[in-house]
Amino acid sequence: WPPFVASAPGKAILFGEHAVVYGKAAVAGSLSMRAYALVTPRTDGLMRLCLPDIDIDTTLGALPSAAAIASLAHPGDVATLLSAALLPQEGPGRTAMLTFAYLAGALLPASVRQSGLTLCVRSLVPVGAGLGSSAAFSVSLAAALLRLGGRVSAADSAEERQLVDQWAFRGEQVAHGTPSGIDNAVATHGGFLAYTRGSSPRQLGAAHPTRVVICDTRVPKSTRALVAGVRALRDQHPAAIDSIMDAIGALAEDAAQRFADPSAERLEDHLRGAVALNHALLAALGVSHPALERMRVISAAHKMPAKLTGAGGGGCALALVPQAGAASEVAAVCAELAAEGFACYPTVVGGAG
Ligand code: PMV
Repeated sequence: WPPFVASAPGKAILFGEHAVVYGKAAVAGSLSMRAYALVTPRTDGLMRLCLPDIDIDTTLGALPSAAAIASLAHPGDVATLLSAALLPQEGPGRTAMLTFAYLAGALLPASVRQSGLTLCVRSLVPVGAGLGSSAAFSVSLAAALLRLGGRVSAADSAEERQLVDQWAFRGEQVAHGTPSGIDNAVATHGGFLAYTRGSSPRQLGAAHPTRVVICDTRVPKSTRALVAGVRALRDQHPAAIDSIMDAIGALAEDAAQRFADPSAERLEDHLRGAVALNHALLAALGVSHPALERMRVISAAHKMPAKLTGAGGGGCALALVPQAGAASEVAAVCAELAAEGFACYPTVVGGAG
């Protein structure tokens, strides 16, 4: 078989983070930053995994058998099937190796196991920033391995994407234990998705890919601690916090409906107001951070309304770029953000999966 590339995008939450934990709707979209998995055949029977972005270049001995993987109670238990000496203790390298062992063990046909392969993944999705880097990895990997097994083709039908999404979700379970499934759904299907806890994500039709600047403040955050903090606030002020959650949910629901609007200008107008409102509500929940507020001041001076995206407390923010905005304006805002020590990624939300 000839070498080929499978790729999948990262994601950003546009509306609804934190409120989604309380059963409200959220909206997420794919980013034009992607992971690219290049698969090349070998003849020596080895399974080489190279991830130059996180300094991993390793050759796995025997992959777990498909039967051993099928017998696991949870995909995360795949570590019990591998030699501990081979695995890094923790971090993205360990996660990536476990995901690879799980998906390759489950999906590779015997002929490819015998001849071996090299899988190299390059990713433009920042790692650990809440932008779905592990889902981009899982989806590109699942797509590549399913294709090697002849179960998906380059023709890319709805059924094939469903299969990729299912396997990528298991890869995400290896990485995160109990993920919601939204990151792999966005990375598989692309565009914009609305979701609520416990039901399958809903693709938002006819959406307009939207220019944004993603800003990583590089302030480390703990999603777990932030979610716990919001819960403590709600225990103290249940009526007030519930009304904030309702308001955030209403913004997400409303945005979900408006993505179908054929007028890009009307949608843009709506989103600009909604982004600012959603951020203010998140700040009221106590999940903003001085670095995020600084980012918002800089982007507002360039007429780009912004909000935190993901858990907050640092991490990333997203600014809407006017569709008619000049590239020089984007370069100017990025230069100012970089001067603060932030990383700046001009990208598009809502593109292909
Ligand atoms: O920063 P992230 O990608 O971990 O986003 C967390 C989103 C929350 O709504 C805060 C938590 C969740 O589980 O949905």
